[in-house]
Amino acid sequence: MHIELSEEQKLLRDEVRRFAEEVVKPKAREIDESGEFPRDTFDRAAELGLTGVYVPEEYGGAGMDMLAYCIVIEEISRVCASTGVILSVNNSLVCDPLLRWGNEEQKKKWLEPLASGRLLGCFALTEPGAGSDAAALRTSARRDGDDYVLNGNKVFITNGTDADVAIVFATLDPSLRHKGITAFIVPADAPGYSHGGHEYKLGVNASGTTELAFEDLRVPASQRLGGEGEGFKVAMSTLDGGRIGIAAQAVGIAQGAFEEALAYAAERQQFGQPIANFQAIQHYLADMSTELDAARLLTWKAAWAKDHRKRATLEAAQAKLFASEMAQRVTNKAVQIHGGYGYIREYNVERYFRDARITEIYEGTSEIQKMVIADWVLNKS
Ligand code: CAA
Repeated sequence: MHIELSEEQKLLRDEVRRFAEEVVKPKAREIDESGEFPRDTFDRAAELGLTGVYVPEEYGGAGMDMLAYCIVIEEISRVCASTGVILSVNNSLVCDPLLRWGNEEQKKKWLEPLASGRLLGCFALTEPGAGSDAAALRTSARRDGDDYVLNGNKVFITNGTDADVAIVFATLDPSLRHKGITAFIVPADAPGYSHGGHEYKLGVNASGTTELAFEDLRVPASQRLGGEGEGFKVAMSTLDGGRIGIAAQAVGIAQGAFEEALAYAAERQQFGQPIANFQAIQHYLADMSTELDAARLLTWKAAWAKDHRKRATLEAAQAKLFASEMAQRVTNKAVQIHGGYGYIREYNVERYFRDARITEIYEGTSEIQKMVIADWVLNKS
C-alpha cells in the first residue's frame, strides 16, 4: 500500500475537483434550499464515469478501484454533500451488490445502465420498525409461480424520489430473522411500486429521501439477487463498501469546511490583525488538519482492504465511525472560527455543519459501527 497517491490518482483527483468546482459547487446552495434533485449534474457525472467508478468497463463502469471511488466521493462532497451521497448510493449500494451478487444476465440488464448513469438506483433496506436492527424487517416476499409478490413499506430511502431501480430487501418468513431475507431488483415503474414525497432534512437536502410502498408488487424470479435467504448477507456486505463511501463523504465535507475556515481566519481582522494570528484559532486549525488526515488515511486503508481482502467489515466500520465523528468536530470548529457569520446561510460552513450530521447516522449509526468493531476485535480478529 502506498500512502501517497499515484500520478494517475492525482490526475483523477484534479479532474474530479475541476468538475466539482465548475459544475457541482455553483448549484450546491440552491439545491440544498430547494431540495431539487440535481439531474443535470448526475448526467454530467455519468459522462465522466462517476456513477460506476469501480465497476468494470464491460458493465458500463469506469473500471477503477475503491481508492479511486473514495477520491471521487471526497472531491464531490467537498463542495456538495447532497451530490456526494447521490453518487455514493448509486455506486456502492446499487452497482456494488449487482456486481458481486448478480448473474451475467442481471449484470447486462441492470448493472450496465446503472453504472453508466442511464439509470439511477436506490437501496431499500430500512423500514419504520427496522433501522439499526435490519434483520427485523417485515416487507414480505411470497413465491407465486415464476414470480415473488412483495408487500411492505420502506423509509428514509436515499434517491427514492428519483430512482429508476431499487434493490429491495424482503423476507420469506420473518420468524427466520436474517435467514429469511432475500434481495430483489425492482424497477420503479413496476405496478404496485410507489414512493412518497421529498423529506425535507437538516442536511443533504437534495438527495431525494422518501418512503417506498409495495402493494402486491410482482417481481419475476429472474430478478432475485442472490439466493433465497441470502439477502441479509447481500445487504451487510454491500454496506461494508457503502460505509467506506460515507467515510469518504465525511472527509470531503470536513475538507470543504476546513478550507473555508483557513481562508476566513487569514482574512478576518479583529484586534487589528487577522484572527489566524491568535493561538486559539491556530490550535483549532491544527486539530482540524490532523484529524482530517487521520480520517482520510483510515478511509484509504479501508478502501485498500476492500480491494484486497475477502472482508473489510472492520476497516469500513472504523473508517466510518472516525470520519463521521471527525466531520462533526471539524465543521463545528469551522462555524466557531467564522463566529456570527458561520451561523448564517450566506457562508458555506453552516451547510457543511448540517450536512456532516447525517454521516454519523446513515449506513449504520456510530453505535452500530462500535458494535461491529467490538465484535471483530473480541471475536473475529
Ligand atoms: N458481510 C457478510 N456477512 C455478514 C456481514 C458482512 N458485513 N455482517 C453480518 N453478516 C452475516 C453474519 O456472518 C451472519 O451469518 P450466519 O447466519 O452465516 O452466521 C449473519 O449475517 C447475521 O449476522 P449478525 O448475527 O451479526 O446479525 P445481527 O442481526 O446481529 O445484525 C448488525 C448485525 C451489525 C447490527 C446489522 O443489523 C447492521 O449493520 N445494522 C445497521 C443497518 C444499517 O446500516 N442500515 C443502513 C440502512 S441503508 C442506508 O442508510 C443507505 C442510505 O440511504 C444512505
